[in-house]
Amino acid sequence: MPHDFMPGLAGIPAAKSAVSDVDGERGVLEYRGIRVEELCKRSSFLETTYLLLFGRLPDEATLNKWQQDIIHHRRVKYSIIDLMKCLPEQGHPMDALQAAVAALGMYYPGRNVQDFDNNYWSAVRLVAKLPTIVAAWARLRRGDDAIPPRDELGFSDNFFYMLTETIPPPVWADIFDDCLILHAEHTMNASTFTGLVTASTLADPYTVVASSIGALKGPLHGGANEEVVQMLKDIGSADQARHYVEEQVRKKKKLMGFGHRVYKVKDPRATILQNLCDTLFKTCGTSPLYSIALAVEQAAGETLHGKAVYPNVDFYSGIIYDKMGIDTDLFTPIFAMARVSGWLAHWLEQLRENKLFRPDQIYAGEHNRPYVPVDQRR
Ligand code: COA
Repeated sequence: MPHDFMPGLAGIPAAKSAVSDVDGERGVLEYRGIRVEELCKRSSFLETTYLLLFGRLPDEATLNKWQQDIIHHRRVKYSIIDLMKCLPEQGHPMDALQAAVAALGMYYPGRNVQDFDNNYWSAVRLVAKLPTIVAAWARLRRGDDAIPPRDELGFSDNFFYMLTETIPPPVWADIFDDCLILHAEHTMNASTFTGLVTASTLADPYTVVASSIGALKGPLHGGANEEVVQMLKDIGSADQARHYVEEQVRKKKKLMGFGHRVYKVKDPRATILQNLCDTLFKTCGTSPLYSIALAVEQAAGETLHGKAVYPNVDFYSGIIYDKMGIDTDLFTPIFAMARVSGWLAHWLEQLRENKLFRPDQIYAGEHNRPYVPVDQRR
């Protein structure tokens, strides 16, 4: 049966899902029907994770159990740390994360993905351990010891503690928690789809998440937040922003942190993140990158007028992390720490009615070519 070919599968539904929804015309993002603005105001990252995975807000006892389960599984086996010590320290943290997550799967019996109990504990382990791995790698590559988690600390506090050996001011932890909420899920995107393709073979969840991490790494997806900060540093000052934007557009180059396949207005996450920048800067002074970002946004609005290209989630998040002193190449691993909940929510959903992904192709090559012996080839 002939089909229209849609490059990038643009507009082709790959699943039926109740995990999240984007209204790209109105700039609305909902997780399980609840708007992200509401979740940032009233929820926590771990509660949001539960909501995504299991479809409902947990009651108090369930939330407490979920949080305790996560706390009890934050530690990683010493041999995972040893494995990371063997990786080249100049390697990208996303590669280290992908390798460590794939290795995790060798330690935990999660092969029977039809077993709900197994899947619950796999989800707990993955949500709990990713921050420990990210923080450990950030220290090991500098020759420092990894810092084990502290049970009395919340999710975001504990991540900062494992990274820096200090507990951040409460407002930082709240802002970071909101950043994680905003990165936790985003419908059918490249990394979620990658994970679902892997999951459709009934591979274990560690392999599913490792494959999603690989897809998230690229600069057209999660990797854009690193490039945004680099771009803002290269621009150097707000008065250079217009010239930079005009040059990029003239050379038909993309502005990093702008544009989205679905949003035709400003990404609601970018708006919230911009507000979080303002809150953060009240506690510790502004960032020179912020005024450049505002100037870039204004220049882009005027230069790309009519193309519906606006800031996306990656545009302001990096400025927050940069101000918090986090290395630029950890931005995408932090994205993964959050997005693992979305990946796993789609994985659990798909398992209820799994079908192996096996798309078609339109063959555009030749037929019946003769085999030419090597000494006769030109
Ligand atoms: N900067 C400048 N122009 C952009 C742009 C950007 N970031 N994103 C899209 N456009 C323009 C394109 O040049 C194109 O213009 P044209 O119609 O004159 O050729 C038009 O908008 C449509 O772009 P297209 O690349 O077809 O849209 P897409 O849906 O395939 O791309 C992205 C979506 C995210 C891949 C793209 O916007 C992009 O590469 N952005 C930068 C990377 C990024 O921030 N990624 C994170 C996404 S959350």
